[in-house]
Amino acid sequence: MARRPKLPAPPVPSALQAPPPRPGDPNGKLTPADHAKEAGASVVDWVDERTSLSGAARWMMFRKVPKGTNWFYTLGSATMFAFLSQAVTGVFLAMYYRPDASGGAYESIRHVTNEVFLGQFVRGMHKWGSSVMVILVFLHMGRTFFFGAYKYPRELNWVIGVVLLILTMVMSFTGYLLPFDQRAYWATIVGVNINGTGPLIGPYLSDFLRGGGEFGATTLSRFYAIHMLLVPGLLAALIGAHLYLVAKLGTTAPPWQKAESRAELRESEV
Ligand code: HEM
Repeated sequence: MARRPKLPAPPVPSALQAPPPRPGDPNGKLTPADHAKEAGASVVDWVDERTSLSGAARWMMFRKVPKGTNWFYTLGSATMFAFLSQAVTGVFLAMYYRPDASGGAYESIRHVTNEVFLGQFVRGMHKWGSSVMVILVFLHMGRTFFFGAYKYPRELNWVIGVVLLILTMVMSFTGYLLPFDQRAYWATIVGVNINGTGPLIGPYLSDFLRGGGEFGATTLSRFYAIHMLLVPGLLAALIGAHLYLVAKLGTTAPPWQKAESRAELRESEV
């Protein structure tokens, strides 16, 4: 019997054909794992092509740092990390907290501490974190003061720092009332009364904090709004301005470094 001629294979649809080799891969040998490794870079490139944000990120992060910087220079970043940790743990606490002065606030905190999964841990992080942030902000302020970083041209950053310090204290003060137990209640009455003794604005300030002449449900709502909305927003905005100025003006060299440079300069002049 005569053999029939072999028919040519039908053409493969274009969707099933092998893709053309990619640049940098002339043999088409990249495995799916290679593609996965590149995926992150491709996403960053995709966003950067449309926003040009990498320039701003490079300007912020790749700065010249003077000789002699040391661990004391990390205190500002440590404070910022404490703030971010407070923001994250605070969001989780806010999912359960009720600013209800007739027992609801205390009950919601008791529920978080005793019944919610990891509730005691997150509450502990927020509570201890607040003390850590206050300590760090003072240490960072001490570093900038003793290294002379408040002088020209960084005066404005010092002033922004002072406002950040006050806002950090306001966060601690307003957060203390929120559990609405005996300690929180009486400690806050003492704090509000101390504010009331301030000159000129003292009585207005204590009236504002109480939400009237009496300490009660409005006081709790007011402290909650200040603690949750007003001050965190201001802190975030001012930390942004603070960091912008740090990147723009550069970091101050340690005082002994400056002294050394001056001595070197004098020697070179002789
Ligand atoms: C929420 C509070 C604060 C945060 C998150 C913060 C963050 C930072 C960071 C990340 C830096 C750069 C790194 C460093 O020098 O440590 C910095 C620098 C600086 N901060 Fe703060 N800071 C805060 C509060 C303060 C306070 C209370 C002051 C002073 C009253 C202050 C004054 C300064 C000054 C003058 C610099 C420039 C330092 C230099 O040029 O060497 N900051 N801050």
